[in-house]
Amino acid sequence: MKKDLISNHIQLNPEGKLIHLLGLEGLSKQQLTHILDVADSLIDSSGNLKKSKALDDMSVANLFFEPSTRTRNTFEIAAMRNSANVINVDLANSALKKNEALLDTMHTLKAMQIDMFVIRHKQNGLPHHVAQNLEDVSILNAGDGINAHPTQALLDMLSIRQHKKSFKDLSVAIVGDITHSRVAHSDIQALKTLGTKDIRLIAPERLQHNSERCSAVECFSNIEPGLKDCDVIIVLRLQKERMLEADIPNEQEYFDNFGLTSERLALAKPDAIVMHPGPINRGVEIDSAVADGKSSIILQQVTNGIAVRMAAMQILAGKS
Ligand code: NCD
Repeated sequence: MKKDLISNHIQLNPEGKLIHLLGLEGLSKQQLTHILDVADSLIDSSGNLKKSKALDDMSVANLFFEPSTRTRNTFEIAAMRNSANVINVDLANSALKKNEALLDTMHTLKAMQIDMFVIRHKQNGLPHHVAQNLEDVSILNAGDGINAHPTQALLDMLSIRQHKKSFKDLSVAIVGDITHSRVAHSDIQALKTLGTKDIRLIAPERLQHNSERCSAVECFSNIEPGLKDCDVIIVLRLQKERMLEADIPNEQEYFDNFGLTSERLALAKPDAIVMHPGPINRGVEIDSAVADGKSSIILQQVTNGIAVRMAAMQILAGKS
């Protein structure tokens, strides 16, 4: 399925209120900023997450059809910190294994009075399809195929905003497997909406972005010029599970040409921050000295994931 065919229009009701979170295209700067502001308000002055009663009459179901550590667990913690009931649907042992259609499973869960569904699936547009076919519930896209990962992009923007003054004057480099990255796609969308003009995509040709997916970005096939004087570096994993066998690069060769090392990081601005959505593969896309170094905010991103997901749930529930 071509990315461009997937529309997020159903995430807004006729009054323009967000009722699902499927992707960031179609959301205004004000809407993105509002989600970030609500997330910020859920973090206290010492950096600790607050608790909220906002969803104390609601139930949330996590449906993860692909592996996940950060996204699944932070969605679960976010639901709990919003005082919602939360279930992690055991998909491996569900009726789907007895050939029940996905929408029948969803209707069944809805009959258990689930109000919000968090869905990760390998198929582009699957959360959109569910949102179209299940009434009176909210769908949160936790990553669909190579299409979108809106809450990851929002937590990335919150993390950038905690370190940098304005999105407008930033130079942001995204390095790695852009082709297969729903994170890159949503990050680019968020950065553009928030006003960033200098967005650089650094990747070997075969893993570079498809121009139909995004415009107004600069592409680099060499990492050194791409990193020069940038403020933010977002590193991506080689998503081998989405590549054809023949396209999988040799890891050593990839690290030699595109791995983020301390020497390469020194090309960026001295106060540049290093980000990564995880999972990280040390010695492939990033050197341990950088992943654990003083510029890295990788674990802060994880914590911010809870605040952003709490905020998204509150907004969809009409509570913020
Ligand atoms: C990413 C994903 O699943 O898209 N990870 C995440 O959600 N934290 C990126 C990846 O898998 O490489």
